[in-house]
Amino acid sequence: MTMSTQKHNGIISPEVLLQQLRWRYAVKKFDVTRKIPADIWHALEKTLVLSPSSFGLQPWKFIVVQDPALRERLLPVSWKQSQIVDASHLVAFAHKKDMNAHDVERYVKHTAKVREIPAESLEGYKQLMLGFVGRAGKGFDINDWAARQLYIALGNFLTASAVLGIDTCPIEGIDPKQYDEILGLDKQGYHVVFVAAAGYRSKEDASAAHPKVRYAHEDVVEYR
Ligand SMILES: Cc1cc2nc3c(=O)[nH]c(=O)nc-3n(C[C@H](O)[C@H](O)[C@H](O)COP(=O)(O)O)c2cc1C
Repeated sequence: MTMSTQKHNGIISPEVLLQQLRWRYAVKKFDVTRKIPADIWHALEKTLVLSPSSFGLQPWKFIVVQDPALRERLLPVSWKQSQIVDASHLVAFAHKKDMNAHDVERYVKHTAKVREIPAESLEGYKQLMLGFVGRAGKGFDINDWAARQLYIALGNFLTASAVLGIDTCPIEGIDPKQYDEILGLDKQGYHVVFVAAAGYRSKEDASAAHPKVRYAHEDVVEYR
């Protein structure tokens, strides 16, 4: 079967997927009058919860900042980027600090419960994870590892949003320490790394018309 005649098995076609990925861009100016409908937002929250992570340990929390007053407070600690206050929704991506043996215990217990198996049957996996978190501080930065897991959830969120016709802007241009304080995360042992704004692009956003800047396919994809 040639590529052109091959039927795809997915729900959406490869063409639609690529069309949406070309359609999306990092929105600079959101339409303040438009809100994401509840069912779509619910699905986007689920893309966060369903994101894969190393060992499945899910070292994260996603804080949906709905309070307009809180978002106003976040604006000056986000390089005054207007998306923080203008977008329909704003999510802060935070990782748990200093993941340790307790987090492994919790995860093993939860897995045993969900899969209805004895926790003892997960002993091998548990020891593997304990060895992993036990390397923290010994040339291994576990907070950096946890932060990297957040980017997996971000990728999921951006792609899923595009597929559902929702505009986004990932925003690393923030003061994470100030975020921790304003959102009360420092007390909870979590640390914000970046945020994502979601909603609908403003007709006045000139960046929508900018051609996508990507290196040539053959420059970034190699075969061996
Ligand atoms: C992790 C990450 C952080 C980013 N931080 C910001 C930001 O603080 N402000 C902003 O306007 N765009 C930000 N961007 C958007 C990028 O500049 C944009 O994705 C990139 O230039 C590619 O363009 P496109 O997404 O419009 O295709 C960020 C993107 C990523 C992936």
